[in-house]
Amino acid sequence: MAAITNVEDLRTLARRKIPKALFDYVDRGSYDELTYGTNRSDLKAIRFRQRVLIDADNRSLSTTMLGETVSMPVAIAPTGLTGLLHGNGEMVAARAAEKAGIRFTLSTMSICSIEDVRSATTQPFWFQLYVFRDRGFSEEVIARAHRAGCTALFVTVDLPLRGQRHADIKNGLQVPPRLTMRNAFDIATKPGWAMSVLMGKRKSFGNIDAYLKRKGGVWAAGRWANDNFDASMSWRDVEWVRKLWPGKLVLKGILDPADAQMAADLGADAIVVSNHGGRQLDGAPSTIVALPKIAEAAGHRLEVLFDGGVRSGQDVLKALALGARGCMIGRAYLYGLAAMGEAGVAKALSMIGDELRVSMSLTGVQNIGEVTRDILFDRDADRRSNI
Ligand code: FNR
Repeated sequence: MAAITNVEDLRTLARRKIPKALFDYVDRGSYDELTYGTNRSDLKAIRFRQRVLIDADNRSLSTTMLGETVSMPVAIAPTGLTGLLHGNGEMVAARAAEKAGIRFTLSTMSICSIEDVRSATTQPFWFQLYVFRDRGFSEEVIARAHRAGCTALFVTVDLPLRGQRHADIKNGLQVPPRLTMRNAFDIATKPGWAMSVLMGKRKSFGNIDAYLKRKGGVWAAGRWANDNFDASMSWRDVEWVRKLWPGKLVLKGILDPADAQMAADLGADAIVVSNHGGRQLDGAPSTIVALPKIAEAAGHRLEVLFDGGVRSGQDVLKALALGARGCMIGRAYLYGLAAMGEAGVAKALSMIGDELRVSMSLTGVQNIGEVTRDILFDRDADRRSNI
């Protein structure tokens, strides 16, 4: 393959490196993929104002997210099954994030456990919680995250039940992956992936396995989790988690200003404007279209983070201009991990950082604090004045 120069190149390589069922799990969205599509197309439609002759020699990407100093306004989003894309995937990605000076967020549905990631890193990481029907699991996992030194808990609120991704059903996606007649050829042609995952520490949901084992259960973690998504979850559960968790509390999956206000009322420190990467409510607005009103309604009361469709430094800059404190990236890092392991995650992060640095220069800003809506080209204003 020719030189890798952007995240799309990592995606192309990832498609060749891992089995189709796993690539599609990462790459696709729910139902007709309308929201998934607009996350990207609405970001693409935004234009910058090009400014010139502004001394851009001393640019800095450094900022804080949730009060923690980071090298750039980007964090790794929580993603399930990551350790099946590459052996020990979550440990590997957390290490790459740490080396790049940004935060990693571990999913409840990870393959490596909280303790695995703790042992692979020295800096704090963040933990994402699904509140399951079995509240005993939530209590225990919150305590484990606290013991592991996690500084922030991201409660995902946009998945009380699961939106359907057609591809996962058609591909027969399974955890742990199983060799079948249908996927035998696919797996046989991906020996690098097979070796890496085979050598990995785990093949099932590390956080859940540990809990079920302690409860003396013999259930399959995947089936247990499936049965335990809780459609009755409500704001009362957020209050309950707030009482249990002493660190920063973040609600992930907010797409409406009224919910952002509610999050602030209940004492959340931050929200992630997110539609789960277009994997839940199909037909919901793109996150970049939803962002400005949410930032306006609640940005003075809590920190507003953003995800959905971010594939480049330009995308990060656009989100910051429209009111985000920082961005989380899901697929952009997963493509890197699936393509090249730790080096691929590092590559994704360094490309995004470089793109951000150049775009800041060309829009005339020196540091992250200077980014405002003023760097965006206002096409509507031009249309209104009939230009
Ligand atoms: C996710 N996402 C997610 N979110 C979460 O809170 N817990 C999870 O376990 C997962 N799992 C997951 C798996 C995969 C393969 C993807 C792509 C996404 C959503 C994720 O945190 C984030 O919101 C989106 O990925 C952001 O969109 P982009 O960056 O992928 O476009």
